[in-house]
Amino acid sequence: MEKITTKTIREMKDRGERVVMVAAYDYSTACMIDGAGVDAILVGDSLANVVLGYKDTLSVTMDEMIHHTKAVSRGAKRALVVGDMPFMSYQASTEDAIRNAGRFLKEGRAEAVKVEGGRSMIKKIEAIIQSGIPVMGHLGLTPQWFHQFGGFRVRGKTKSAAHAILKDAQRLERVGVFSIVLECVPWQLAKLVTEKVEVPTIGIGAGPYCDGQVLVIHDLLGLSGPHVPKFVKRYVKLDDTVTKALADFKREVKAGKFPTLKHSYDMPREEMRKLLREFRRRR
Ligand code: KIV
Repeated sequence: MEKITTKTIREMKDRGERVVMVAAYDYSTACMIDGAGVDAILVGDSLANVVLGYKDTLSVTMDEMIHHTKAVSRGAKRALVVGDMPFMSYQASTEDAIRNAGRFLKEGRAEAVKVEGGRSMIKKIEAIIQSGIPVMGHLGLTPQWFHQFGGFRVRGKTKSAAHAILKDAQRLERVGVFSIVLECVPWQLAKLVTEKVEVPTIGIGAGPYCDGQVLVIHDLLGLSGPHVPKFVKRYVKLDDTVTKALADFKREVKAGKFPTLKHSYDMPREEMRKLLREFRRRR
């Protein structure tokens, strides 16, 4: 079983092989994703809302991201592990960007980091790469920028907005990213970007013509409630199954039906007899 590297991901585009990535946040899920042969696991900053219950991704800290990246790395024997640089871990200075990207590799044992943004972040992205840390770019709807965008909307719908995203993709390619996530952009733009850059594009809400696709594990397993964005496909609806299992557990405990002796440990009869004898003697 050969470990997937950033080079493997890069070469998949040349072979015409699609890249499959899943965003996940813990050891046991990483083991399952790895076992299913998925190419890459992104420890997304969506950790913030999906797992930690924050209302958006802005509050998640480096320490929280590292904690979960460590867990995922322990489970991913084959898949490439990518740590997502959280809000304000790279924006303020090049030093912050290098130091925090380094933490993902050194402490989290990730093999690459993902950074949101184009032109305005390019110097930081270049500095991270020049420090020997592979970077996955992220363009289109970049959730850390939602206050500036005025919400979570599809990006790149006008000629000038689409042109800016295409230019950003080319800039990212020039500074050496090994792949680019395209989030919530029209499929026509994603197709054009995919044709114009040599590194793989990995789409989420960007249509079928990207070089790869990424979904959040809770979305694809149907664990994120009844309302999911248009681009999500739920491959199973575990929400209902989990809720039913919990209700069954509650009912059986309340009714004294669980546990039975089948779920209990047995003491040898002779030992029990001795114990009772001694107990009686002492009383
Ligand atoms: O944080 C995340 O899960 C992501 C993916 C949606 C690409 O950035």
